[in-house]
Amino acid sequence: MGNVIKKSIVGIVIGGILFGATNALGFPFVFQLLFFGYAMLGAVVFIILDLPPLKPISGAKAAGALVVFYVILSVAYIAGGAVWPQFDPEDEKGKIDKILKPKREHYEAGKVEVLLQRAKALDEKTKELTARLQALGAAQAPADQKAGGGSAPSATTAAAGGDIAKLGEEQWQLQECYNCHKLNGEGGKKRGPELDNIGNLLTAEEIARKILDPKSYKAEGFEKEYEKGKMPDKYKDLMEASDVQALAGWLAGYKNASVATPKPIKMK
Ligand code: HEC
Repeated sequence: MGNVIKKSIVGIVIGGILFGATNALGFPFVFQLLFFGYAMLGAVVFIILDLPPLKPISGAKAAGALVVFYVILSVAYIAGGAVWPQFDPEDEKGKIDKILKPKREHYEAGKVEVLLQRAKALDEKTKELTARLQALGAAQAPADQKAGGGSAPSATTAAAGGDIAKLGEEQWQLQECYNCHKLNGEGGKKRGPELDNIGNLLTAEEIARKILDPKSYKAEGFEKEYEKGKMPDKYKDLMEASDVQALAGWLAGYKNASVATPKPIKMK
C-alpha cells in the first residue's frame, strides 16, 4: 500500500513538471493534459508491476483469457477515441475554400485588368505602327486592328447585384455566429443573445459595427459577457467588407418582435 502511494506521488510530481514545462513551451492546454495523463499512465504501470503475480493458466483457458484481454483493450481504445471531438477534414476544407474564394476572385479580377491593359498597350502600338506605315506611304494600312478588350465587367457586376440575403446567411454559417446566437430558434448555447428581433433595434450599419468591433455595443443583461469579451474580436480580420455588409444586411431583416432580443447599448 505504501508503495502504491509513493509511486502515485512520483507520478503526480512528474506529471506536474511536464504540465508546467509544456505550459512554458506554449503547448495548447489539451496537450498539457495529455502529458499529465501519460505520466499518470506510467505510474499506473509501475504500480501494476508490484501486484502479486497471477496463477499461470494454460491451454484453452489461456487462449480465452488472451482474447478477452484484447477485446477489453480494443473497446477501451475505440471508446476513448470516440470521446474526443471528431475532426472532418472535408468540412474544414469547404470552409477554407469559402474564405479563399473572394480573395481568388479579387486576384482573378486583378488579372483581367492587367490583361486588358496589355491589350490596350498592344492596340496603341498597332496604331502607332500603322501610322508609321502610312507615313512611309507603304502598303495600305489594315482597316481595323482592334486587339480585343472593352467588353469585360458586365458578368461580375450582374453577380454582385445577386442574392445578398443568401450571402448573409452563408456568412452566418461560415463564421459560426450560431455557436453563440440563436436565430430562427436554432443554434446558440445560451452564450449570447437571441437575434431574431435585432432588426428592430439596430440598423445594418450598426450591426456591421458590432461585428467589426464587438466593444461598440453591449447587449443589455449581458454585462458580464461583454466585460469578458465573449463575442470574438476577429471578424474584422476574417471577413471581407462585402461579407460584413451582407451579413449585417441580412440580420437587419430580422424583426420578430415576439423574441426578446436584448437592447444594444452604444458604448463607443
Ligand atoms: C463566442 C460567442 C459569440 C460568437 C461566436 C458571436 N457572438 Fe455576437 N455576442 C456574443 C455575446 C456574449 C453577446 C452579448 C454581449 C455583448 O454585447 O458583447 C453578443 C452580442 C451580439 C450582438 C448584439 C445583440 C444585442 O441584442 O445587443 C450582435 C448583433 C451580435 N452579437 C452579432 C454576432 C454576429 C453577426 C456574429 C457572427 C459573425 C456573432 N455575433 C458571433 C457572443 C458571440
